[in-house]
Amino acid sequence: MSCAEALSCSGRPCEIEVAGLSRRFDKTVAVDSITFKVGRGELFAFLGPNGAGKTTTINMLTGLLKPDAGEVRYHGELFDPRRLNVKRLIGVVPQHNNLDRELTAAENLQIHGRLFGMRGQELQQRIDHCLEFADLGDKRATPAGKLSGGMQRKLVIARALLHRPEILFLDEPTVGLDPHSRRKMWAFLRRINQEQDCTVFLTTHYIEEAEALADRVLIIDQAKIIAGGTPEQLKKSAGNYVLDIYNEENIQNEFFTDRPAALQRLEQLDTSVRIRETTLEDVFLQLTGKRIEA
Ligand SMILES: Nc1ncnc2c1ncn2[C@@H]1O[C@H](COP(=O)(O)OP(=O)(O)OP(=O)(O)O)[C@@H](O)[C@H]1O
Ligand SMILES: [Mg+2]
Repeated sequence: MSCAEALSCSGRPCEIEVAGLSRRFDKTVAVDSITFKVGRGELFAFLGPNGAGKTTTINMLTGLLKPDAGEVRYHGELFDPRRLNVKRLIGVVPQHNNLDRELTAAENLQIHGRLFGMRGQELQQRIDHCLEFADLGDKRATPAGKLSGGMQRKLVIARALLHRPEILFLDEPTVGLDPHSRRKMWAFLRRINQEQDCTVFLTTHYIEEAEALADRVLIIDQAKIIAGGTPEQLKKSAGNYVLDIYNEENIQNEFFTDRPAALQRLEQLDTSVRIRETTLEDVFLQLTGKRIEA
């Protein structure tokens, strides 16, 4: 398929193409024949509840796990994890911080740089740059284990950026962070996307994270992709306005393409009703019948 005509790359050159990717663990189907594309420079969110298949997908995209079926292409070239050229293209931030807690922030980066063949002054300058960029310039001599949770997360990201990857994969970048640190992390990820010219592929189970951050969102549930598009497109497909209709036992939702239609319906109701704009949470609820936290 021609990348140029692929709508799914949002009109950008296609960077990652995934076709029919599948993986099971014994009887558990973790990822079930998923197909999607990511365009160069996109900030792309893979959204789904616990156990949906997000980590399994990212592990297959980054060569940590072998797919049972399907293929991954970078710039049109079939991904072979044994070839270093593609490995150099990507930076990976795993779901759980895997720093060496005894080593300093700078030493953690140094080891990573050496693995990528970086040496001497070039490596030192790059370490300084990445630590500064992550606001960790004054922590270079601090053992990683003594940094706060948010700082450790940023250090893992700084390490992933060290070899100047074109694509940064982040598995649940904000899990465990308080709401303030989470918002700071969002700003950091936007800066990576814009200032480091990096395509960002992140997984999350926080709906507001996908909504606030992503150019495009893919929703995965029970190993399958159930919807995809910009947050605006997804909300529009559900209906841009929603009525929360309060019954004795629950809240019922009704969706409308525009506000006048929702208001018209509201006037017919004699129960307690609230009108509001649709969120991605509503989209997920409408598609699956459940909330994402479930
Ligand atoms: N190594 C494994 N062995 C057996 N089952 C696994 C393994 N890894 C994942 N699974 C199963 O595959 C499914 C998808 O898991 P995965 O970790 O990809 O989900 P996730 O979307 O990343 O979830 P979370 O939000 O909790 O991180 C789950 O049912 C999980 O139990
Ligand atoms: Mg996961």
